[in-house]
Amino acid sequence: MTSPRDVVLLGSTGSIGTQAIDIVRRNPDRFRVVALGAGGGNVGLLAAQALELGVEAVGVARASAAQDLQLAFYAEASRRGWDRGEVKLPKIIAGPDAMTELAQWRGDVVLNGVVGSLGLAPTLAALRAGRTLALANKESLVAGGPLVRAAMTRPGQIVPVDSEHTALAQCLRSGSRPEVRRLLVTASGGPFRGRRRDELTQVTPEQALAHPTWNMGPVVTINSATMVNKALEVIEAHELFDVPYADITVLVHPTSVIHSMVEFVDGSTIAQASPPDMRLPIALGLGWPDRVADASPAVDWTTSHTWEFTPLDDEAFPAVALAKAAGEAGCCRPAIYNAANEECVAAFVAGRLPFLGIVDTLEQVLAEAPDFGEPGTVEDVLAAESWARGHAQTIIEKSVEGA
Ligand SMILES: NC(=O)c1ccc[n+]([C@@H]2O[C@H](COP(=O)([O-])OP(=O)(O)OC[C@H]3O[C@@H](n4cnc5c(N)ncnc54)[C@H](OP(=O)(O)O)[C@@H]3O)[C@@H](O)[C@H]2O)c1
Repeated sequence: MTSPRDVVLLGSTGSIGTQAIDIVRRNPDRFRVVALGAGGGNVGLLAAQALELGVEAVGVARASAAQDLQLAFYAEASRRGWDRGEVKLPKIIAGPDAMTELAQWRGDVVLNGVVGSLGLAPTLAALRAGRTLALANKESLVAGGPLVRAAMTRPGQIVPVDSEHTALAQCLRSGSRPEVRRLLVTASGGPFRGRRRDELTQVTPEQALAHPTWNMGPVVTINSATMVNKALEVIEAHELFDVPYADITVLVHPTSVIHSMVEFVDGSTIAQASPPDMRLPIALGLGWPDRVADASPAVDWTTSHTWEFTPLDDEAFPAVALAKAAGEAGCCRPAIYNAANEECVAAFVAGRLPFLGIVDTLEQVLAEAPDFGEPGTVEDVLAAESWARGHAQTIIEKSVEGA
């Protein structure tokens, strides 16, 4: 019997992280978590996870959370009825570089489940350290695609942990690269599927946060409503599988059972189907290329199913076309797209920007962006992002003043 894979889990308190722990808990013969990291917003959960899993190190990105984490350890130990003197605490790493340090911690696989482009530095660190990178943090690939490619030490080092990309990776096993005609990326359509642009003017954050098929973190949920999430996934697919943007098509498929498809040159289309459950991509990400038995329930083939596919309405949801143009232009434009979007989502949730204003602002930011050139370093990406955030805020301020 082979020994379990050692896993470093970044973003352990989030939606991806907690589901990854569920997989590990159910498969102790396959996986063992050696280190955990998160932002520091939920130290109670982080401490509980660390003591349950018996990890060697725990990191928090917010330096001021270190003391709270220590107290949370003692509270958790006491809740478990452990004697304070017997509690063996893991090493605590705190500060903005904590995730990068953890990404190089001993281990076989780093699962990057932090949210936002701050996931780029740990992504690069894990790759340079030679770890297999199970990548949920799509923003790092979007923001720093050229850097990520350069940091890889072997082909296949990144295993996608996104339902669409894990589907594409599985479908791509069916043929050779020259046989691929196009990738078909499916989208649930989010809570506003089928609405025209003029029907989206009054959308509230509460409505946008109610996703019909997936239970995800708040930023990702708003991104699903605007289709920015799908747009980032198109860039992610291009970066992961080296398929031109013109050969990546988004299809709306409301039930999210077909997670994506690959059309081959002979007219065959191979699809991957499973009920919406992120534990399947997470398990495959940790175990790749091997499957993990019972990671999630299969489709129930004893009942009737109807699968619907419709083309994306680019007028109501222009985010995908905008991202393709940004991806084709390169030169930090995907990073600008992503960073400006993070500002716009925050403004929308705070009630300072209307729903349609999110992608309209992105379009304006991209139209007015200077040429940043291809990024050679993380600092180049940060500079483009910083400009994008500032410019998005200026546009938002002006729209608030003008309202
Ligand atoms: N959820 C899904 O179904 C899904 C599907 C596909 C891909 N993804 C991708 O997976 C990533 C995570 O998504 P999610 O839904 O799991 O997000 P989430 O629920 O919001 O969780 C985010 C995690 O990141 C941590 N975090 C926040 N700020 C941090 C920082 N500065 N440094 C380090 N960690 C930080 C959070 O820790 P604290 O809150 O404890 O501070 C939390 O553990 C995203 O890139 C998303 O696009 C998610």
